[in-house]
Amino acid sequence: MKVLVTRRLPGDALKKLAMHCEVDLWEKETPIPRDTLIDRIRDKDALLCLLTDKIDAEVMDAAPGLRIISNYAVGYDNIDVMHAIKSSIVVSNTPGVLTDATADLTWAIILSLARRIVEADRFARSGNWQGWDPNLMLGYDVHSRTLGIVGAGRIGTAVASRARGFNMEVVYTSRSINKKMESLVKARRIPLEELLSVSDFVTLHVPLTPETKHMIGQRELSLMKSTAFLINTSRGAVVDEVALVHALQNKTIAGAGLDVFEHEPSISSRLIELPNVVILPHIGSATHATRSKMADIAVENIISFMTRGRPLYEVKQA
Ligand code: NAP
Ligand code: GLV
Ligand code: GLV
Repeated sequence: MKVLVTRRLPGDALKKLAMHCEVDLWEKETPIPRDTLIDRIRDKDALLCLLTDKIDAEVMDAAPGLRIISNYAVGYDNIDVMHAIKSSIVVSNTPGVLTDATADLTWAIILSLARRIVEADRFARSGNWQGWDPNLMLGYDVHSRTLGIVGAGRIGTAVASRARGFNMEVVYTSRSINKKMESLVKARRIPLEELLSVSDFVTLHVPLTPETKHMIGQRELSLMKSTAFLINTSRGAVVDEVALVHALQNKTIAGAGLDVFEHEPSISSRLIELPNVVILPHIGSATHATRSKMADIAVENIISFMTRGRPLYEVKQA
């Protein structure tokens, strides 16, 4: 099989892939240009791509022999899965291995927002610190407060389980009941509107789909407490970023922690100007161990498809 790989990956997985397939690797550390992608995919049977590669009908139709698209991510909103299914192309992803790393990062953001860690670090470096002060950098408690989880899947559940140590009340919204979350932290499933109005921290863990796009907009933000924080480590477009900027400027909510943005890698300059926002460059799964395991799974998906006719993790629906 001939495989196009759109980036060099951490660990040894690509070496293993090269033992089974003919690998055409995009060597640069910048995204493969679209015309190059379309040109180089023409004679390929498989594609190992990143979440930043838009794999739509035009890309798939350029490769008549393409049989599998292995996404180096759990999210697959960058791929037109409906078109892949229609074209008998299998799509695979890397669920599970990045759940804990992404949940850990979500907690790093929760703590950073509540205790103003990024702001306080900048201030401590500035040379303006005059000494311990009863009024310096007051923030909010995390312990014993209410955590609202939107999307109770793998990552949402892992975020909830970490709330135990902080003695938090956990509420969640999801289309189906999550028994594990309910038994782990006595989480209560409530409608989104109610979750927004009772939570001190609202954290988003839904995939980006037509239903979840702009799920959090002006109306939803207005339902949140003025002392509450919004955390997004899912996909940027789940939040209406313009509405979020307004809510932050008008102090409708206390702050936001964002690992993902609507138009990555561009970040609204108005967000950058706000002190009560923690801004990260999409690093949810970015640990050495996790990124290496993701590479193993992305490669195994292709090898398993070649040898057994199906990948380890097949995306079944759009
Ligand atoms: P998952 O296990 O599939 O969980 C997603 C959950 O969202 C599902 O349990 C689903 O439950 C719920 N959901 C789907 N549509 C919904 C809707 N319309 N309303 C309410 N809930 C809905 O996925 P995961 O592994 O936890 O990953 C979640 C997302 O995180 C990924 O899709 C990806 O975009 C993002 N992610 C980001 C990073 C990062 O680097 N920042 C890293 C990893 C993942 P129901 O079907 O019961 O509603
Ligand atoms: C990262 O954002 C992923 O979906 O794996
Ligand atoms: C703070 O450092 C304290 O001792 O309370």
